Amino acid sequence: MAARRALVTGSSGLIGSEVVAYFDARGWRVDGVDNNMRRDFLGASGDTTLNLERLRRETRRFVHHEVDVRDRAAVDRLTKELRPQLIVHAASQPSHALAGTRPFDDFDINATGTLNVLEAARRHAPTAPFVFLSTNKVYGDAPNEVPLVELETRWDFALPEHRDGFDETLRIDAAMHTVFGASKAAADLLVQEYGRYFGLPTVCFRCSCLTGSRHAGTELHGFLAYLSLAVREGHQYRILGYKGKQVRDNLHAQDVCSAIAEFATRPAAAAVYNLGGGRANSVSLLEAIARFQDLIGRPLDTEYVGEPRPGDHICYITETRRFMTDYPGWEISVGLDAMFAELSALPSLYPLS
Ligand SMILES: NC(=O)c1ccc[n+]([C@@H]2O[C@H](COP(=O)([O-])OP(=O)(O)OC[C@H]3O[C@@H](n4cnc5c(N)ncnc54)[C@H](O)[C@@H]3O)[C@@H](O)[C@H]2O)c1
Repeated sequence: MAARRALVTGSSGLIGSEVVAYFDARGWRVDGVDNNMRRDFLGASGDTTLNLERLRRETRRFVHHEVDVRDRAAVDRLTKELRPQLIVHAASQPSHALAGTRPFDDFDINATGTLNVLEAARRHAPTAPFVFLSTNKVYGDAPNEVPLVELETRWDFALPEHRDGFDETLRIDAAMHTVFGASKAAADLLVQEYGRYFGLPTVCFRCSCLTGSRHAGTELHGFLAYLSLAVREGHQYRILGYKGKQVRDNLHAQDVCSAIAEFATRPAAAAVYNLGGGRANSVSLLEAIARFQDLIGRPLDTEYVGEPRPGDHICYITETRRFMTDYPGWEISVGLDAMFAELSALPSLYPLS
């Protein structure tokens, strides 16, 4: 029997490369699309070539395509040729700060690039589950409106009804998104529309912080991966606002893969799910620094910059109840301790210097 085919964009990045390996190991032929634009955006430490080389070494049926998702004709041609049974769209310009300085590139990749992949899917693979890696930045800074309490090492929600974090009913407009959040929100709506209007089996996974040892961590993107590198290599780390007590929940890339696999077995049209590690996998910046210092055995040189990044969340925890209810087979398999151990123990795959 011929192997099932998946098309993965952003296949050399954190999520894309993990998805390639995951489905390859399960007998799929996976075609990846990536042009290493992460290096162009984030410099040498954002280079994803090592991930591509690893995939070439370690997978059985992976085929790489050096295609730019902004190239509408090339995306259409490739999708027509492959007629995949699953599409995972993870290519993106990932950084808020860069989006402000390169707004056309940001929108062309995040919004128009997504439209290119969607339209190619509608023409050539309309029954393939279409998975879009969206973000909690579609909510802008609306999460900052809930009352908070300041604890010794973190901000936390003041009210018990917020304890488990934010669900999908949070509004997505009338908030500060950054240009990045706005381009991702545009893409998120387009993905939903290709589900509602055209009937494609689409899903938006609105993720909080995603992590894993394959992240080419940089100051502007890849929070935990960058922080572990800074501790290991003795680089100064800039804490941007909120007294370093800002909180994120974290989900390992492997658990993103299993969520995608669950959706692919029972797809629905225009699905929207928040996807994150939840309270158990939440950590503040100060707590993360302390954990890495303990595990790696080196102090981190920090500089405190009073101003937070515009629109940055103070305390964000993902409420994943909707996804867990619809897909009870999914569970979070990698806890915070394992994430920190993995990121601390590895040799510097992507050295900063
Ligand atoms: N990492 C996180 O914390 C996080 C959180 C929420 C949402 N997401 C979303 O998940 C997705 C994957 O994120 P990631 O962490 O794997 O990012 P990543 O930067 O590691 O991977 C993205 C990949 O896309 C590629 N790419 C960029 N522009 C391209 C273009 N024009 N054509 C082809 N390829 C291009 C890059 O080279 C890179 O390899 C993104 O959509 C991101 O917005 C990530």
